[in-house]
Amino acid sequence: MTIEIKVCMGSACFAKGNLDNLEYIKEYIKENDLEADVKIVGALCENKCSDGPRININGKEYVNVTQDEIREILQSYQKIINLDK
Ligand code: FES
Repeated sequence: MTIEIKVCMGSACFAKGNLDNLEYIKEYIKENDLEADVKIVGALCENKCSDGPRININGKEYVNVTQDEIREILQSYQKIINLDK
């Protein structure tokens, strides 16, 4: 199963935390050797900035994502990836 993580790169989401979230996601993927399983893509602003920082994973929308939350989200997806192997 491939996981696609769409990170909103609009200026509001970026300033509200997605700059750090993106760095964290990249680091997590590297440390856990998930390069083949996870694809990161940038998304444009969808005018839902008040929900930012926004991240979408395989079509599921996550809003106001903090770094603690992104860690938990990634851990839960990593379990799914590992089950799949
Ligand atoms: S900047 Fe992310 S929705 Fe506008």
